Amino acid sequence: MKQLSTFLCLFLISFGVNAQENNKLIIDAKSGGVVINKNIYGHFAEHLGRCIYDGIWVGKDSKIPNINGYRTDILNALKEMKIPVLRWPGGCFADTYHWMDGIGPENKRAKMMNYHWGGVVENNTFGTHEFLNLCEMLGCEPYISANVGSGSVVEMTQWIEYMNSDKDVPMANLRRQNGREKPWNVKFLGVGNESWGCGGNMTPDYYVNLLRNYSEMAGIYGQWKLQQIGCGANGADYNWTDVVMKQRPGGMSGLSLHYYTIAGTGWGDKSPATGFEKKQYFSGLEKALKINELVEKHSAIMDKYDPKKQVGLMVDEWGIWTDVEKGTEEGFLFQQNSIRDALIASVTLNVFNNHADRVRMANIAQTINVLQSVILTEGDKMVLTPTYYVFKMYSVHQDAKLLESKMISEEYEMEGKKIPALSSSVSQDINGNIHLTISNLNPDKEAVLSVELVGKSFDKVKSASVLTAPEYNSFNSFDKPDVVKPVDFKNFKKTSASTLQVTVPSKAVVVIEML
Ligand code: AHR
Repeated sequence: MKQLSTFLCLFLISFGVNAQENNKLIIDAKSGGVVINKNIYGHFAEHLGRCIYDGIWVGKDSKIPNINGYRTDILNALKEMKIPVLRWPGGCFADTYHWMDGIGPENKRAKMMNYHWGGVVENNTFGTHEFLNLCEMLGCEPYISANVGSGSVVEMTQWIEYMNSDKDVPMANLRRQNGREKPWNVKFLGVGNESWGCGGNMTPDYYVNLLRNYSEMAGIYGQWKLQQIGCGANGADYNWTDVVMKQRPGGMSGLSLHYYTIAGTGWGDKSPATGFEKKQYFSGLEKALKINELVEKHSAIMDKYDPKKQVGLMVDEWGIWTDVEKGTEEGFLFQQNSIRDALIASVTLNVFNNHADRVRMANIAQTINVLQSVILTEGDKMVLTPTYYVFKMYSVHQDAKLLESKMISEEYEMEGKKIPALSSSVSQDINGNIHLTISNLNPDKEAVLSVELVGKSFDKVKSASVLTAPEYNSFNSFDKPDVVKPVDFKNFKKTSASTLQVTVPSKAVVVIEML
């Protein structure tokens, strides 16, 4: 359990609030020393299945409305969701990717096998220019994952020079020849992906030596402006974090962590994305909540070697991984998305917000048509998933000040297993507005919650909305795209100058703005 501020502890002791009391959210309105980095709301797009091709990119000659080859509907939806950062080109794909194959005239680009994902041939139509221009159009930061598994230091440093140099040097000149005068000034560089697995099957000791080598050269070629992100652990592999943190290079400003929610009820089995049973609903949420323990334990190791918290924990792959949709290619990882997944997103984002002192970036996997997507496409149709709406509702937390809070919650119990029903996080934006995001995981019972602001009173609730669904496994389809969609929320009342009572519906996410 995260350390509470002294202020909150004193409050809890002196006012006798204890774990017996049902549903109370206590907020330290005087806190706010930590900013919730907007990049916690980041995304990930790999050359995998229909994420890039069909999802983001259809090409200029497509009948699907597009701007220079990018789907117009997707551009608009991602902008509206306020996407802050996008990771590319993988994933496992990144450690087989050779960036020079993806530049220059489209018809001259080399083809390659996508060994990891469906064994398809990648024609490299979507390459460095297409990705970085996309980020410019979206107004988000690009996060490039460099190839350590099958690449070289030379290949990486040339890529850095190509993307970021404004000098009269070979790679910047090649970029100019390819039609782009100004550098893109990429800020985030991942040094390898899952180097313990698909990125090279390395031990942490072996990897950290490579990391030191790549990092030094990335620093020199990138003029120490790039934020380098070292490959971090797979879930609960704390030894990986320990070894890498202990021997990390000075240029490393972030360490990644990957954690996927596998919602089956047996060992390692997955759940379907739709039509699942309540047991699989519960299991998904129970496993998603594990992220809190992972963040806290990895952070504790990081604290040991980096007490000033200079290195960020970047959870650059997370989300629910279900069975693929029937009739779709196994290796394309195409899955639907339900209210369960929206709740998984909401509790996970609450955990990241509440640990914003260490968590500086996170990237849900993956933006479109792959795993826990925010958008699905089929031909010219597009559907916004329940997870999309959570990101949109939670965008109020981007770059806001975290207010320390303590949730005391009733439990949601299933077959003898228990999880807290309620989850929350709270922030204050530059205009002084306080935003609460609260989710109720119980699919059968609403929860009455009393919210208390300590150290401040508030005038009124300015706005509120709720995302819920008819059933615990409801989803949005191409035929019925509006089954799970946020609507205005009114089920609250101000009970004193600093307290609010909120009735959170079952299986729901609520966002409240107060001033
Ligand atoms: O997101 C799908 C895959 O999951 C990524 O390519 C890899 O990094 C992870 O194992």
